[in-house]
Amino acid sequence: MRSLATYTFPIFFDEWGLYVKNICDAWDNKGDTIIGNDVWIGYETVIMSGVKIGDGAIIGTCAVVTKDVPTYTIVGGVPARAIRKRFDDATIEKLEALQWWNWDYKNIKRNIYAIQSGNIEALDMAV
Ligand SMILES: CC(C)(COP(=O)(O)OP(=O)(O)OC[C@H]1O[C@@H](n2cnc3c(N)ncnc32)[C@H](O)[C@@H]1OP(=O)(O)O)[C@@H](O)C(=O)NCCC(=O)NCCS
Repeated sequence: MRSLATYTFPIFFDEWGLYVKNICDAWDNKGDTIIGNDVWIGYETVIMSGVKIGDGAIIGTCAVVTKDVPTYTIVGGVPARAIRKRFDDATIEKLEALQWWNWDYKNIKRNIYAIQSGNIEALDMAV
């Protein structure tokens, strides 16, 4: 926080003669918060600006996420720390390559039981 005040001057830009397009300059801005695919964000989680959440990550309820979260990692707490990986490294590597969320509807439907039961070997990749 570089600003000498926490007061929300930019919200009342008209009153203070500020230019509305510069509203983001009033506070430090660490950039976009980027949420990957197939991410589960638990109830009442806070994710800070500039944080990138990897594909398949799970954010435990009430976490405050201040740092990037790697793919397929479960994090929780304040500040959020890694609890565990969702799968072994080989499975995570396969899932990262498969990107099932980009499949067409029919392909997902055909594989839905394998996806839901966590059975990566049973996935039917026939087009
Ligand atoms: C994180 C979560 C997915 C559980 O994952 P899990 O791997 O099954 O976790 P476990 O229950 O086996 O707990 C593993 C460890 O993480 C801790 N933990 C679990 N949930 C946590 C949370 N939200 N914040 C911090 N720590 C948590 C447990 O205390 C345990 O710690 P220990 O190993 O020191 O005993 C679950 O707790 C959660 O937060 N789910 C989201 C619920 C929700 O928000 N539902 C509303 C709909 S979105």
